[in-house]
Formats: sequence, C-alpha cells, structure tokens
Amino acid sequence: MSKNPRNPVRRHFIKTLGLAAGGGAALLTACSSGHRSAEKNLGFAEIPHRLDARHHLPKDYTADILLRWGDPIDAGGDTFKPAALTPAEQQRRFGYNNDFIAFMPLDSDAGPAEGLRHSRSHNSRSGLLCVNHEYTLPHLMFPGYADKRSAGRIVSAEHVAIEMAACGHSIVEVKKTDEGWRPVLESAYNRRITVTTPMEIVGPAAGDARLRTSADPSGRQPVGTIANCAGGKTPWGTLLIAEEGFGGAFQGNPDKVADPAEARNHRDFGVGPDNRNWGDHHPRFDIEREPNEPNRFGWMVEIDPYDPTSTPRKLTALGRFEHEGFTLVAKPGQLIAAYGGDDDEHQFVYRFLSSGRYEIQADNRQLLSEGTLYAGRFDRDGSGRWLPLVFGLGPLTADNGFHSQADVLIDARRAAVLLGATPMDRPEDVQTNPVNDCTYVMLTKNKRRGDDGLNASNPRPRNSAGHVLEIVPPGTQGNRDHTSDTFRWNLFLLGGNPQAEDPAERGAYGQQSAGDISPHGWFANPDNVAFDQRGNMWIATDGCEDFGFHDGLWAMATEGEGRAIPKHFFGCPLGAEACGPEFTPDGTTLFVAVQHPADSRDSTFDKPAHRWPDNDPELPPRPSVMAIRRRDGGPVGS
Ligand code: FEO
Ligand code: CA
Ligand code: CA
Repeated sequence: MSKNPRNPVRRHFIKTLGLAAGGGAALLTACSSGHRSAEKNLGFAEIPHRLDARHHLPKDYTADILLRWGDPIDAGGDTFKPAALTPAEQQRRFGYNNDFIAFMPLDSDAGPAEGLRHSRSHNSRSGLLCVNHEYTLPHLMFPGYADKRSAGRIVSAEHVAIEMAACGHSIVEVKKTDEGWRPVLESAYNRRITVTTPMEIVGPAAGDARLRTSADPSGRQPVGTIANCAGGKTPWGTLLIAEEGFGGAFQGNPDKVADPAEARNHRDFGVGPDNRNWGDHHPRFDIEREPNEPNRFGWMVEIDPYDPTSTPRKLTALGRFEHEGFTLVAKPGQLIAAYGGDDDEHQFVYRFLSSGRYEIQADNRQLLSEGTLYAGRFDRDGSGRWLPLVFGLGPLTADNGFHSQADVLIDARRAAVLLGATPMDRPEDVQTNPVNDCTYVMLTKNKRRGDDGLNASNPRPRNSAGHVLEIVPPGTQGNRDHTSDTFRWNLFLLGGNPQAEDPAERGAYGQQSAGDISPHGWFANPDNVAFDQRGNMWIATDGCEDFGFHDGLWAMATEGEGRAIPKHFFGCPLGAEACGPEFTPDGTTLFVAVQHPADSRDSTFDKPAHRWPDNDPELPPRPSVMAIRRRDGGPVGS
C-alpha cells in the first residue's frame, strides 16, 4: 500500500482508525465505565511469542492432554494404531481436527435422558465434553500421500469412509481426578455423530422442495453433518454445532446443474469439480447426480448430549450459510436473541430473535424454530441496525427469486445483500460477555477487502490481521436489550503489531497507546472466544504463523484501565490453531482444542513436521483437547 498521505484510501483508513484510537463517535458508547487494571485482573505470567514443536503455558500452569484423534471413547477400545485404522474403528474413536468445545456438567445421581436437570448443574469435576471435528487432513492421517495436493484427489474408498467417520462430533464423559482430567470410557453417554448419522430438518424450510433428494423425498431426513466449526449452548441443556465450509465436500460442475439459480447457490459455497472426491464413492456428494444435497448442509444443528439416543436437528430458522456458530442471550421472560457469523469474505453478522419467550421451567425447544433472522448493518456514525430476512418484506420477493420463507433462509446470503447488510471481514465467533452484556464479533481477516470496498466497521484494505467489534445494545451494563433492532458499535481492537510501520498493518487496541501493549501481547486473526467469570475475554487465534509466531490464546479485560490490553496465555505447536476455548463453571479448568498440529509446508504422515503431542516415532501428530489448570487449583487467569 502507498505511504503517500494524499492517497484517498490511506486518508479514509486513518480517519476510520480515529474511531478506535481516540474521540470518534464509536468510542463514546464504550460498554461500561469500570476501573480495574489489567495486571490485577489477569495475574498470570505472560508467555512469549514462539514458533516450535511444543505447546506453551505460563509458569504455575499445567495441562492434561485429555483426548487425541484416535483415542477410544468406549471401554472396548485399545491403543490407537493409525496404519491399521478402519472406518468401523474410527467410528468409535475420537475424531480429527477438534474445534468447538462445550463442557456440559453432570450430576452424579442423574442418568441419561435427564438432560434438563443436568443442564442446571454447576458441577465442575464431572461432565460431558462435547467436541466438534471440523475436517480431515488425509496427508497427515494416512501413510502414502506425497503432500496435501495429492491427498485431495487420490483418496481410496476406505480412506473416504474413515474421513467421514472422523468428522462430526464427539460426546465423551470426563472426570477430574487427583491426577487430572480423564475420559470415562465406560460411560453410557459417549457417542460419535458423523457424516452418516441420521438427522432431522426442522423449522420454516423443513420439507421444502429444494431440500428433497432421491434418498429423502420428504426433505426432512438428512444424513450426517460436516464442517462442524464452532457452536453454542442453550440453557435447556442442548448444543448448537455449526456447519461451516461444507461446499468443499461436494464435487461436480455447477454449470451442469439445470437450474441456474441453484448453480449460482452451489458456486457461492465453493462446490466445484476440483473438490475432494467423496462423490466418486458416495453419489450424494456429487451435485451432478444430487443437485439438492448441498442445500441440506450449511445449517446449525441442535444436539441433546444428555440423551444418547436423541436425533440431531438441523435448525432452518437460523439460516443457511457458512456458520461459524450461534450463541444465545436467554433471559427468563424475554425473547431469545442469538448471534452468529457467516465465515467467508464479505459475508454478514446475523441475529435471530425468537417469537416466544424463554422460561426456565418450560420446554423451550421450539424457540429456535420460530422467529426472525436479521442481518447486521454497521453505520459510519457508530450506530447499527438489524435487518429482517422475511419473505415479502422489502426486496425479498418473487421479483428477486424468492418464492417462500424457505427460499429466504436457504439463500440467506443473497437476501442479506439485497437488504443492504454490511459485508464483513470473515465473521467468526460472535458472543456476549455475561458481565457487561455487550456482544463481541471476531473478524478474522479479509485479504480481498479492496481499497474501494472499505466501510467504518471494516476499515483496513487487504485486512491481514483481523479485528474485533463490540456491539452495544441499548440499556445499561448487565441489563441490555438484545431484542432491540438498533445498537451502537465500537472497534474494540485491530489485530497486528501496534508498532508496525504501515498503518494498514498496525494493530490498535482500544484507546491504549502502542507502548501499553507488551511485545508478546499483540496478536492477529481472532477466531474463537470465551469469557471467564470476571468478564475477561479469551481469544483463540487462527493465522498468527503468517506474522512469525504460534497461534494460541490471548486474554484481556473488556472494561476499565486494562480494556483491550491483551496478555498472551497459551501457544500452540507449529502448524496448529487454537480452538474451543471453554471454562468449567467454576473457572478452574480451561479446555482448549489444538487443531491441525504440524499442518505446515511439506508435512505428511510419513514425514511430519513434528509428532505432537505424543512425540512417539510410531504416531503422527494428533489434534488434541487439552485441559489447562493452575497448579494451585485456583481460577484460570486470575
Ligand atoms: Fe472453521 Fe471459521 O473457522
Ligand atoms: Ca473457527
Ligand atoms: Ca479456524
């Protein structure tokens, strides 16, 4: 980018950064006015930026490697032998590329199917660890692949079947013992959900003609879930897991799909002839043979982990796109607000509002099937508006190719464009801080953000480091109205090095001056987020290796003197991104998913860049969930 200050792009950029760096309208609505210093609030010893084959924690912390790809999740399972892995074996073992984690507490005196009771428990020593497995990496899972590219097309039928069994979700009972966290292999709760698990489609699009296939003329009984990225939890004890980059699982040429609108839809989600070749072995993953099958993916899926016999449900009211996740704000007596992001360049932030009110004792499961989906518009003056995706309203009519509410939900992206929603820099997790009641949007990056496509909420051209927005609904701290159609918003931070010379690369952390950010406190590419009991924000990153150091976790206050001052807590081994993260209810354990370790240049099963976490010459690198604890048992981070 030019350094000429007369460059109009640069002028626009500096003006917009002003909102984050001092005095702009967007800063005047800061979420609260508390005063606590970062150091008092986050008392751990910061770790340095590194890039090596190990994971890194602050001194005084320890971690259990709790579940690794291939670990058995039932009592009959034996030691993992990757070269002898079969589809049937993978089906009963922990899956690949762990992402979202939910810890669902168990009461020791309750049994399966007593979910409602369990969901109110705050037990922090026993629970169900519910983990997404986003995708597979054949070149690191199977011997014989020369590189990543060869693995994309040459997979055998057996390898495809193993991949399908390694995706999806795992539910595993875990217990905290005197020696640390352990899986409970004999538990009746333990379960794998995969690409072959029968499911149900519910909500306004269920049964629509565009969801029917030759195997399912009802359009209500899909099979399997894929690309399960992040997710959320409901107060009634269920999980929401996202279907994100599902298009890559479908092969075939969209030009050969008869309906041009459907062809455009498939193209928009990356379906194409060069994708992985599951369709060679399973016709439903070939759009030239089953053109509607991709429409049965791209939804949020609700799972009841407390009932091992329950059928997962795809919730069409929450729209169809590349879901990162959906997280709920559920206050008794009020409508439920749920926030989610579509993780693709120039896609949107969404809010769902239920039609019915949430009540603690009621059966609330219909609440996420009846309501209105909205896309976010972030205006230059720091205000914002939720725009309803309702058939017949505004441009969402037959003139624009919408013939029903099902069409609006299946083509939510196209509806959001027509409504004038703000295209964002890849929305990842969107989550509400339970202490200050503001909502935070992780925008991971967007290198395709052009000079002429900048807007106040996405102010950087070729945004390589990402940023975080703060949504401030009307009301006061702890009592904000998430059902309002209007809000204020702030640029909470811009990722990157605050000392970088080029302003387009330079990080900005709230109103802090560059000198307030430690040399290891800055980070890039925010992806997943969690909040601790004190309202501190814990951001997991995906992409810091482009800046020369590992991905990991950075924690920061969202209010007071330490607002937006990140402190580096955890570092991944080379090639991995950090996912999860999830605290136990008492805050003394932090679960983190280390996804795709050793997925770096030229790394293969036969010659991996490293073999974390086992460091055993017989074992490849294995995606794993870690349970991080303070050695003295106190709350993590305090
Ligand atoms: Fe699967 Fe948006 O990261
Ligand atoms: Ca993610
Ligand atoms: Ca990611």
